[in-house]
Amino acid sequence: LVFDGRPVVGIANSWSELTNCNAHLRTVADAVKRGVWSAGGFPLEFPTISLGEVLMKPTTMLFRNLMAMDVEECIRAYPLDAVVLLSGCDKTIPAMLMGAASADVPAVMVTGGPMLRGHWRTEDLGSGTDAWRLWAERRAGRLTDEELCEVESCMSRSSGHCMVMGTASTMASMAEALGMTLPGNAAIPAPDSRRLAMAELAGRRAVEMARAGGPRPSEILTAEAFDNAIRADMAIGGSTNAIIHLVAMAGRAGMELPLSRFDELSRTTPFLVNVSPSGKYLMEDFFYAGGLPVVLKELLPLLHRGALTVNGR
Ligand code: FES
Repeated sequence: LVFDGRPVVGIANSWSELTNCNAHLRTVADAVKRGVWSAGGFPLEFPTISLGEVLMKPTTMLFRNLMAMDVEECIRAYPLDAVVLLSGCDKTIPAMLMGAASADVPAVMVTGGPMLRGHWRTEDLGSGTDAWRLWAERRAGRLTDEELCEVESCMSRSSGHCMVMGTASTMASMAEALGMTLPGNAAIPAPDSRRLAMAELAGRRAVEMARAGGPRPSEILTAEAFDNAIRADMAIGGSTNAIIHLVAMAGRAGMELPLSRFDELSRTTPFLVNVSPSGKYLMEDFFYAGGLPVVLKELLPLLHRGALTVNGR
């Protein structure tokens, strides 16, 4: 499958102008390409379906499996030696990981990253929770339409996905805890230059994985990896949707993941991260505090330390 002596690295891109959270992913893909070229590979970007929580009706959840099939069949049907998965908004992360798990070609994910924290007048604003709170204030007559518009533009002031520990930030953390991203990927804000540096590194790493023929998703998405992800989910106070998606991803990896396993692991895992909606801070603060690597380090005695990640360790 090698082209002209160079491994072919596909870049599965869920960029879409209808998915505001993923609208900057072409810039991210360019960074991945720089990494692939510089490591001696041949990058080819291709589109996938994109699922955006804000505009898609009746609910993106109806389309997650369709997107997983799209990603799976493209990876399988085209002559790719490795693939870089670009995701962002909630469902795009599990859908891509499900497709990659079934296709089982060496794969590394780069997420688009969370937005910068919102800020209006004297308060920080998180997407979701604060939006509903202030909408209720408007309904109660304590905010004008003009003020609500101002709030909206102050809340979404950069590229990226929701910057609370909602489903997108949670699933980015799950991808990292499972070992399907390079370490430190989840929390880097979308407009931070380190997001593009991470994308370039992922492109370089994909070339190495293509040359080595692995690790493949089937070597990474093991029962131990799912245990680690569940522990991480409990420690970050992740979205309840993580349970739905982890169960589905485990299914694609050929494993049964019963709800009782979440219950068992939750009883012995500390809740560590003070991020909205279960806590106070936002993803940008989480990044400055060290992001998921710091959480995993704290959890290390509880984790399966031998679980493999895309970096080969
Ligand atoms: Fe896309 Fe929240 S709407 S992550």
